[in-house]
Amino acid sequence: MIPEKSFTTYQHAADYILARLPHPVDVAIVLGTGLGTLLDAMDDKVEIPYRDIPGFLLATAPNHPGKFIAGKLAGRYVICMSGRFHYYEGYDYSDLATPVYVLKLLGVTTLILTNAAGAINYNIHPGDICVITDHLNFATVSPTRGNNLDAFGPRFYPIDNLYDRDLRRLAMDCAVQLGFSLKEGVYFYTVGPFFETPSEIRAMRLLGADLVGMSTITESLTAGHCGVKVLGLSLATNYSSDRIEGMDGSEVEDVAERASAQFRQLILKILSA
Ligand code: 6GU
Repeated sequence: MIPEKSFTTYQHAADYILARLPHPVDVAIVLGTGLGTLLDAMDDKVEIPYRDIPGFLLATAPNHPGKFIAGKLAGRYVICMSGRFHYYEGYDYSDLATPVYVLKLLGVTTLILTNAAGAINYNIHPGDICVITDHLNFATVSPTRGNNLDAFGPRFYPIDNLYDRDLRRLAMDCAVQLGFSLKEGVYFYTVGPFFETPSEIRAMRLLGADLVGMSTITESLTAGHCGVKVLGLSLATNYSSDRIEGMDGSEVEDVAERASAQFRQLILKILSA
């Protein structure tokens, strides 16, 4: 069976959310592991649990509570996703397109995707914030596979500027104004939930990857389909497995916790630009 995507399902979900938003939103932020402290800076919060939204998905990850949180950040009304959906949880590709299509129907034109990632490039260290310049999709993830919804975008679409050049430049400039600098890198997507073998990491490095992670590209690829601009930000939380032994994932949240202040400053600066 081919999973059928239905415009009306997305529209119902969007209508439910729109009825609860006091202001229009044009920016959405997906909060990666450990980056939820951005919400401490948010005023006039309105929370919309995913489980209440008709036709939406349920989060399964233990540390991802699963809700939209709209409110004011740096004087701007935005919507955040606290809890995202990963392929390793068992969703179909078409499920993974849902959040972004729904955001599009809310009026979102810019999507900031954040994540925790492993550092492959020797110049990237735990705690570094990196602007995603591009990705490598060797797991052949395709969230826009299946029947095409022409209302969102064309059947075939280019992805050579998926991580918008202007937004990348803006992020780099904002960091400089704040007194720090960002790294830049190519994100290698893996299905997970396991990390990588040392040989895989060496291969990824040879192929031009700087970072590795299990999220983000399902969202950016869907955004590319429906004309939503993407800024991708990775927080390097650990060296990938050819440089350390016995990663268990706990370091991911520890490092994210420590770097989160810089991350918050950066997002607020970008939003006020
Ligand atoms: Cl080392 N690999 C993957 N696939 N995802 C990660 C990671 C590593 N570190 C954080 N997320």
